[in-house]
Amino acid sequence: MAISGPLVAIYPGSFDPVTNGHLDLIRRSAKLVGRLIVAVLNNTSKQPLFSVEERKLMLKEVTADLAQVEVDSFDGLLVDYAERCGAQAIVRGIRTTSDYESEMQMALMNRHLRPGTETIFLMAAEEYSFLSSRMVKEVVKLGGDVSGFVPSVVWRRLQGL
Ligand SMILES: Nc1ncnc2c1ncn2[C@@H]1O[C@H](COP(=O)(O)OP(=O)(O)O)[C@@H](O)[C@H]1O
Ligand SMILES: [Mg+2]
Repeated sequence: MAISGPLVAIYPGSFDPVTNGHLDLIRRSAKLVGRLIVAVLNNTSKQPLFSVEERKLMLKEVTADLAQVEVDSFDGLLVDYAERCGAQAIVRGIRTTSDYESEMQMALMNRHLRPGTETIFLMAAEEYSFLSSRMVKEVVKLGGDVSGFVPSVVWRRLQGL
């Protein structure tokens, strides 16, 4: 797959909800590509806290200042969605060695399914390398303050639950 013109990349994830770790990755990868599509995976097997529409709205709000970033959602195979978008690359974040193992499996499978699809890995920011949406949800459920780890729009939504 020859790349002509600016690179189009997809940053797929659950984003349930978007955290400062995700946002750091979005900001950094947006500088590397011509167009970044942040895509919420409509995963019917996971029981989400926020609906796909709510997750998209929060993502749109926190990326409003980034001209090259779009927010969308998809279901089915990521590589099929990438094909439909004309995207050549996938962006993913690596926090720990356990991320590395599962991310490598996914990257290799995606390349097998659609040869030429490259996955671009960015290392998590140090301060967010232990941060996950799952952790945010658990702490909030127990009444803890995670305002330093999520955008303010997300923090307000979490408090309103
Ligand atoms: N704190 C963080 N810092 C950097 N990358 C992160 C962080 N949290 C999640 N990511 C990365 O963002 C991507 C999407 O994560 P997530 O929303 O958990 O969706 P998924 O269900 O695909 O794991 C993954 O590549 C994940 O490794
Ligand atoms: Mg995850």
